[in-house]
Amino acid sequence: PAATASKTAAFTPNYEETKVPAYTLPELLRRNNGTVVENKEQWPARRAEILDVIASQQFGRMPTKQLPCRFTVVEEGEAFAGKARRQQLRVFFSDAPQPAMDLLVYSPKNASGPVPAFLGLNFHGNHTVAADPDIILAAGWYRNNADYGVSDNKANAASRGKATETWSAEYLVEQGFALATAYCGSIDPDVDDGFHNGVHPLFQAPGWTGRADDEWGTIGAWAWGLSRGLDAIEKLCPAIDAKRVAVIGHSRLGKTALWAGANDPRFAMIVSVQAGCGGGALARRRFGETIWRITTAFPHWFCQNYNRYQDAEATMPFDQHMLVALAAPRPLYISSAADDLWADPKGEFLALKNAEPAYALFGKNGLGRDVLPPLNTPIGDNIGYHLRPGKHAVTRYDWEAYVAFAKKHLG
Ligand code: GCU
Repeated sequence: PAATASKTAAFTPNYEETKVPAYTLPELLRRNNGTVVENKEQWPARRAEILDVIASQQFGRMPTKQLPCRFTVVEEGEAFAGKARRQQLRVFFSDAPQPAMDLLVYSPKNASGPVPAFLGLNFHGNHTVAADPDIILAAGWYRNNADYGVSDNKANAASRGKATETWSAEYLVEQGFALATAYCGSIDPDVDDGFHNGVHPLFQAPGWTGRADDEWGTIGAWAWGLSRGLDAIEKLCPAIDAKRVAVIGHSRLGKTALWAGANDPRFAMIVSVQAGCGGGALARRRFGETIWRITTAFPHWFCQNYNRYQDAEATMPFDQHMLVALAAPRPLYISSAADDLWADPKGEFLALKNAEPAYALFGKNGLGRDVLPPLNTPIGDNIGYHLRPGKHAVTRYDWEAYVAFAKKHLG
């Protein structure tokens, strides 16, 4: 079913708890055949059912074809007054020079061995991540943005370092972590172009005329690209312990981090920041952004089957607690911002709450709390959560919480 973008302007989000409809979530541990999973040995098969339903109904199926990707080191140096090593790796997705993704890696120079890392996609290019003049500008399509002085769809040097707090690279290095990040637009530009740009055409069979209803979209491609980033780390980055890489993302890229962690068990930890609708927030609450709104505004993010659930959340064979539970038994962290009601903080907390049974199969504790915690109070054992004051953004406070959680789980 096709989405109807013209209706987007008519949407009025609900921000009142009293207007949240009554709902029943699909049971996380109930198999498609009606029986219930009772122990951790039975989780992988149930997990495969959940992965399959979310692939076919929300993000689209990941391609099975292997591309002849090539990986090279394009630059190495130092940053942050000699505290960090910088590596810039390039992943070519085909034999051609484009599409290609540059992975910027900062790691602590004084480390005695391979360190744990955070890997995430950025919104506006690697050069925005730190005020480091040696970061290579992204080639190819670039999002226009007045704040970044870009109106010609090309990256420019004026926005170097604009997302410094968002990535807190120097802080991470000081804490003994590496940061690896790539620009999402190098995998797939964030525009609804009929899937003629980015990596999608590399997978399309000759004569392809349009997507099947369960064919992947842009979030699927971004998640796939994160796995190629992890491949690059495994192959070319001795500074990072590839078995201790947390995948992280904010907002649309937080939905992406959840989906990447779901599909690639090599990610040792998953962090999703204010991903909201289609990410960490329960769809059935219809609080803030809804499926109707997201699929009309951003139809290219998901597969077409997701449109079936526009204003029909009760008919969904899954909800977002099942997406986040695909992280289990790996450590999982979600954080929300109090002013970011569009992303439904309570809906994110409740998705985590309802993912706890998967962790319990492994004898692992979850949030340790049944209701939203007070502001600025990180909670949880193997499932972490915090709600901080303020708006839709990734702040230093957020990073401090992820680092504390990562120190506990990734050492
Ligand atoms: C929009 C969109 C959200 C998304 C956000 C972002 O607000 O509606 O679903 O998470 O953009 O990516 O910043």
